[in-house]
Amino acid sequence: MPTHEVEFVDLGATVTVSDTETILQACIRDGIYQEFSCRVGMCLACSAKIIEGEVTQPAARSLTEEETEEYALTCMARPQSDLKLERGRYPPSITPQK
Ligand code: FES
Repeated sequence: MPTHEVEFVDLGATVTVSDTETILQACIRDGIYQEFSCRVGMCLACSAKIIEGEVTQPAARSLTEEETEEYALTCMARPQSDLKLERGRYPPSITPQK
């Protein structure tokens, strides 16, 4: 079963994620704190900025097409390569408007 290493650069922790699980599932399994709420790709609480690498997240419909290249919803995202992520970074579409 193929796996990828996902490094959280803000935490200095790495989790191994198989191609049959999401990044969030691997974090919960290994006891790595990752914020989440809905677990269905709607609330964006689990968002992380993609620093390096690629994910697939076709069910992350709350992100714009551009945002899916830059942000991972860890409850939906499955790595397609080794990754570097920064937790707690949110896409511009949820930034409060002034
Ligand atoms: S936990 Fe809500 S979008 Fe991931």
